Amino acid sequence: MNDTKILIIGACGQIGSELTLKLRELYGTDNVIASDIRKGEQDVFKTGPFEIVDAMNYEQIEALVDKYQVDEVYLMAALLSATAEKNPAFAWDLNMNSLFHVLNLAKEGKIKKIFWPSSIAVFGPTTPKHDTPQYTVMEPSTVYGISKQAGERWCEYYFNKYGVDVRSIRYPGLISWKTPPGGGTTDYAVDIYYKAVADNKYTCFLSENTELPMMYMDDAIRATVGIMQADKEKIKIRSSYNLSAMSFTPKEIAAVIAKEKPGFEISYEPDFRQAIADSWPSSINDSEARKDWNWQHNYDLESMTKVMLENLMK
Ligand code: SER
Repeated sequence: MNDTKILIIGACGQIGSELTLKLRELYGTDNVIASDIRKGEQDVFKTGPFEIVDAMNYEQIEALVDKYQVDEVYLMAALLSATAEKNPAFAWDLNMNSLFHVLNLAKEGKIKKIFWPSSIAVFGPTTPKHDTPQYTVMEPSTVYGISKQAGERWCEYYFNKYGVDVRSIRYPGLISWKTPPGGGTTDYAVDIYYKAVADNKYTCFLSENTELPMMYMDDAIRATVGIMQADKEKIKIRSSYNLSAMSFTPKEIAAVIAKEKPGFEISYEPDFRQAIADSWPSSINDSEARKDWNWQHNYDLESMTKVMLENLMK
């Protein structure tokens, strides 16, 4: 495993930056090549190899795969839900072309394994909202969700048709104190901690009772590494696995923050992201991931809030 060469595309983003550091710890600095369209997160390019790459450019990705003899690709470049609504055509191009490039490199035998993130955004307004099952109605109403749903079908297709070893997780909203998110509907659950520390008050762009599935970043990184390191036979689902840790509303997270930061106040000014949030599940059933590759989460709202505030107050 120590000789496995890994390429992360989108290494400067919210997930990519923490994933890069974790994979360097596990596989060795020189075996993990970080890449992004521009230099961003300092640690990512200071701690090991870094390359500029456009995820929409097949030749550029192929050149990196050849240069470093890459075995596995983690494709983390994407436009998230809120940003994608502002530029639907570009979001579709970026999210789909990058996936095809990597799937085709695997089909041609140039790489052995792929991680590709999906999202709770694959579900839509007609999906059962509570304890959303792995297999259910999926009619996403956002561009981002449509691209993830289509991507899931293509992953499964490439596995069935060409034997491509592609693995995927439907991430819920991800929360971290290290790298800020960019352009998602669940971003409020990160912003709220920053504003709690800075101003002890926060104006939320979702309404108070909007319940969404969420996860602390450490759990998400463990899940990502876990599914990639699992034996091949254990990965029964080649579209994408439901994954869950906690669900809460803005009102609930505010109440937990207020316990740690007395006087904390929240107000609500829902914007266009409310409709996106309303189309998504409020909680997720992830029993298949727990059964197939032993997924377990560690953090709940209380423990996550403690770590978030502790670190942001430093
Ligand atoms: N966190 C993402 C978003 O809000 C969902 O995958 O867009």
